[in-house]
Amino acid sequence: MLQNVLITGAGKAVGLGFNLVLRYLEAGDTVVATIRKPCDELDDLKKQYKDKLIVLTMDIGSTSSVNNAASALSADIDHLDLLINNAVTVSPDCDKGFFEADLDFISRTVDITAVGAMRVIKAFYPLLEKSGKTALIINISSEAGSISKCYRTNMIDYGMAKAALNMATMNLYNTFKDEHKVNIFCVHPGWIRTDGRPDNPAPLSSYEAAEILRALFEKKREDFECHRFITNLDEDYTF
Ligand SMILES: NC(=O)c1ccc[n+]([C@@H]2O[C@H](COP(=O)([O-])OP(=O)(O)OC[C@H]3O[C@@H](n4cnc5c(N)ncnc54)[C@H](OP(=O)(O)O)[C@@H]3O)[C@@H](O)[C@H]2O)c1
Repeated sequence: MLQNVLITGAGKAVGLGFNLVLRYLEAGDTVVATIRKPCDELDDLKKQYKDKLIVLTMDIGSTSSVNNAASALSADIDHLDLLINNAVTVSPDCDKGFFEADLDFISRTVDITAVGAMRVIKAFYPLLEKSGKTALIINISSEAGSISKCYRTNMIDYGMAKAALNMATMNLYNTFKDEHKVNIFCVHPGWIRTDGRPDNPAPLSSYEAAEILRALFEKKREDFECHRFITNLDEDYTF
């Protein structure tokens, strides 16, 4: 059945968000793509898909920006069936270790990546509640957000942000689960060439990864009992 889908962080053509937008459009769904700044490739998709694609400008680091975007969207559509929190940021010191990194960068990464996803869920929840089916929220996480499997000494801000996003997912699962109206997961999306570089050793292009995820999300929509942190291959991942 066709659905209304919202995807954050869709303004980079080689990235996962843009390619999820493309895959859902190709499947016939209505897609809300959120961006921070104009994207030529999304403009091209808009010409092709017309009313099936709604492009919203929204900075997930700002509650007022997110709330304004949600109000604006309410004038165009009456419900959402799927919300994918894909947007992420990292600090300039992401690759540095503890003694080299400027620790004052960490809070912004956590604010955008984890709190930002929560801002989006809160603002768009009234539209999710109006879905005619179980609405689904997917937080795109990472294996780097697993506390128990952490092996790195760098990527401190990114790992902390994804661990916080995973915690948010569990908290919101507890909040939503009794009503069975909205389901929520955090998902490691696989290792993906999201920089678009052919020499990137990651096995999946963003376009390939997006279709694997699209199928996975539909499989999980009604599953309220299984583990909340899963991989693109539908394996349980350890928090
Ligand atoms: N690549 C992998 O192998 C891999 C592995 C595990 C998890 N992931 C996850 O997969 C997702 C997609 O990865 P990616 O490399 O495609 O992501 P990305 O391009 O680095 O980020 C996605 C988008 O987030 C947007 N964004 C940043 N700050 C924002 C803000 N304040 N408000 C709104 N949007 C903001 C960016 O917009 P701008 O273009 O405006 O900066 C960007 O287009 C991420 O969540 C990532 O952590 C990727």
